[in-house]
Amino acid sequence: MAGATLFTLLIVLVVYLLSIIYKEHTIRLAHGKLAAQHGCQPIASKYPLKDRIFGLDFVIENLKCSSSHCYLINSLRRFQEVGGTYTLRIFGHPMIQSIEPENVKAVFATKEKDWRLGEYRTVSFRDLLGVGIFTLDRPGWQESRAWLRPAFEKKRTADVELYERHIGHLFQQLPHDGKTVVDLQDLFLKYTMDSSTEILFGKSVDSLLPESKEDVIASGFAAAYESAKWDVFKNVQLYPFGQFRSKKAFNANVAIVNQFVDRYVKMAIDYQGSSEEADQEGGSVFMMELAKNTTDLKRIRSELLSLLLAGRDTTAALISNTFFVLARRPDILAKCYAEVATFNGGLPTLEQTKNSKYISWLLKESLRVHTIVPVNTRTAAKDTILPVGGGPDGKSPIFVAEGTQFVSSIYAIHRRKDIYGDDADDFKPERWADDTLRPKWGYLPFLGGGRICPGQGLAMTEAAYTIIRLLQLFKDIKAEDPTLEWQEDLAITCCNLHGCRVILTSA
Ligand code: HEM
Ligand SMILES: *[C@@H]1O[C@H](CO)[C@@H](O)[C@H](O)[C@H]1NC(C)=O
Repeated sequence: MAGATLFTLLIVLVVYLLSIIYKEHTIRLAHGKLAAQHGCQPIASKYPLKDRIFGLDFVIENLKCSSSHCYLINSLRRFQEVGGTYTLRIFGHPMIQSIEPENVKAVFATKEKDWRLGEYRTVSFRDLLGVGIFTLDRPGWQESRAWLRPAFEKKRTADVELYERHIGHLFQQLPHDGKTVVDLQDLFLKYTMDSSTEILFGKSVDSLLPESKEDVIASGFAAAYESAKWDVFKNVQLYPFGQFRSKKAFNANVAIVNQFVDRYVKMAIDYQGSSEEADQEGGSVFMMELAKNTTDLKRIRSELLSLLLAGRDTTAALISNTFFVLARRPDILAKCYAEVATFNGGLPTLEQTKNSKYISWLLKESLRVHTIVPVNTRTAAKDTILPVGGGPDGKSPIFVAEGTQFVSSIYAIHRRKDIYGDDADDFKPERWADDTLRPKWGYLPFLGGGRICPGQGLAMTEAAYTIIRLLQLFKDIKAEDPTLEWQEDLAITCCNLHGCRVILTSA
């Protein structure tokens, strides 16, 4: 009896093992076929791991560099030393790192259907944002993108008044005696919180107003959102271990955030069927457009919170990084003042703002040098190929197995000398005046392909308008410490570790 059982067990085991071997074999064959079809070659550059099983040395180096604010410089060094496309294994998972524009274009555009966001992003962000454009892959993502498109395409002439009101509040908070030091980065974060909440929810949290004038619920939202966001960023960095951290405070913050947003979403849903135009009634274009396509309150809330997360810190960082440079480069500042002088002290229209040539070069250069979303990644949703990185010269296509993580450093791409020339490391707005500079997939501050940042226009206009207006209000901007250099402070998006400490003199 016992012998028969043992025999059966043995048979089962053998069949199981054979099936695994067979499966591995057919996968290998399929891989081989796909690879052969496209003339793939093995990736020549392998990262020289010390721990080849878990890749711990790579992971630990990343953690160390993150905390000493040299993560971006260190990954640039790795590309320079190991190669423009290299491969390694982390905890058994294959990873491809590349700063070849052709590969980046394949992942984010021509072969984007073969790639997905990856759990580190979808899982961690869903705790705060729920299910929306920022946390969805196809097909749900396509739906979100289509729902939001009309709101981004609408002409928003009313925005000048909106920005003016918040610039007024900002001005109230700025010392302008030509002596007192102020950190603009903190204030720009409040400023974009105020403008974003008004643009998205139709109601500003007005965090720049003196405490006595603050709306208690609105300021509760701002604090709860800020704290919940940091928890999510931490979880993304620690993924998958972040899921084990205590969620008590986090959940309480999310509840406050949702309560605030839901109040306005309900209004938008109730609005449907009434014929009045949203922007005339103080609602938000974004809410109204979304409510046309869904009455799911949670979904609308998710989309709006996704927009806030994607648009607020990033726009603040752009304005702050740009002022950091202006306060150190009198040559650049003088050219900005010359352009601003053409408005004769009057308010520029949004059209004139967009047409301010030098300021637009300045912003482009700011995004190139101080890239705000400096690292981008995707996971292969199926077996696929990338156009370059294979063979001894790295010019042949490479095979990529399902589940492989692709990581690109936009920060490093933006410093390629073959694209930008020998002065790639210099901050030089004028380089954008040169029509022969066409970096295409070598310049990606807003990424590219189907998931290109839909808020690009909004962010550039808001940044340009704010800069022009502040230059009209202040006749001089000086750095507290002109020798201090910009240093990365990376948490999904990147800002300046040293903020933007300046001394202002009013006009
Ligand atoms: C200087 C400011 C900004 C920068 C540098 C920036 C950059 C980016 C980048 C690089 C992505 C792609 C991320 C990825 O796919 O992994 C992205 C996506 C996105 N951005 Fe922006 N962004 C900025 C401002 C804004 C603003 C103001 C909004 C909205 C009001 C916005 C909304 C979004 C949304 C919704 C996505 C996700 C799009 C999708 O997955 O289809 N962004 N942004
Ligand atoms: C969203 O709603 C509008 C208006 O009802 C409609 O024209 C449009 O086709 C819908 N879009 C999607 C993607 O469902």
